[in-house]
Amino acid sequence: MLIDTHCHLFSEYYEDIDSVIKRAYDNGVGVVVVNGCDDKSNREVLELVKKYDIVYGALGIQPGEIGHINDESFKFIEDHINDDKIIAIGEIGLDYHYDYDRKLQRRVFERQLGIAVKYNKPVIVHSRDCIQETYDILKSFNVTGIMHCYSGSVEMAYEFNKIGFLLGIGGVCTFKNAKNIVEVIKKIDLEYIVLETDAPYLTPEPYRGGRNEPANVVVIAKKICELKGLKFKEVSEATTRNVLRLFDKYINL
Ligand code: NI
Repeated sequence: MLIDTHCHLFSEYYEDIDSVIKRAYDNGVGVVVVNGCDDKSNREVLELVKKYDIVYGALGIQPGEIGHINDESFKFIEDHINDDKIIAIGEIGLDYHYDYDRKLQRRVFERQLGIAVKYNKPVIVHSRDCIQETYDILKSFNVTGIMHCYSGSVEMAYEFNKIGFLLGIGGVCTFKNAKNIVEVIKKIDLEYIVLETDAPYLTPEPYRGGRNEPANVVVIAKKICELKGLKFKEVSEATTRNVLRLFDKYINL
C-alpha cells in the first residue's frame, strides 16, 4: 500500500474527485492526505475526510495565502484540529521565492507551529529559498513532521531528520534537470522518506504538463526504486511504515 502525504484535491482543480479517488485506490494508494491552504480549502478538507474512507486531512494556511486571512482563520484550525481524521497542521511554512511579506509569513508560520505544539500534532511544511531559516524556526519549536517537496541539500536533510522531520519526495525527482533531490534520495536512508504528489501540481514525468493526481505516487515510488536500487515492495512498505510511525495516533488502518 502507498500513501500520498501531500495533495490538494479541491473543487477549484477537480470536477471529478470521485474518479480521482477511485483511481488512487485502484493503484494501491491506501491513504491520501489532503492539505488545506486557506479558509476555503480548509473547509473542503473537513468535507473530504468525511466523504472518502482513504482521505485524511491537514489544516493550515500556506505562505501564499497570508494576505487573505484573519483571526478567524486560526480559530477555525484550532476548532477542528482534533476532528476525526485530521492528522496535521499543513500546508504551512515560508516561501521567499515570491514577494510575500516575509515578516508576516514568519508570524503566520510561528502562530500555526504554536497550535501544533499545543495540540501535539505533526506539521507539513513548505519551504522555498529559505531552508536554513525554516530549519531554525522548526528547531525552536518542539514539533515533528514532513518537509514537503524537500529541496535542500543532503547535509541539511540529515539535520531535519535529527529533529524529527521526514522528507516528502514528489514529482521533481522525475524531472530531467533534477540533480539535488536525486542526490538526497540516493544518500538518505529510506526510513526518512515519504511519498507525495502535491497534486494538482508537480506532475511527474512522463505525464509532466498534465494535471497531477494521487494515483501518480506509484510513479514516484518507482523512481525511488530505480535511484536506490530497491524493489517496489521495499519502497512501498517502508514509506508507508514511516508515515504510520509519524502519525501513529491519528491513522489507524
Ligand atoms: Ni502543496
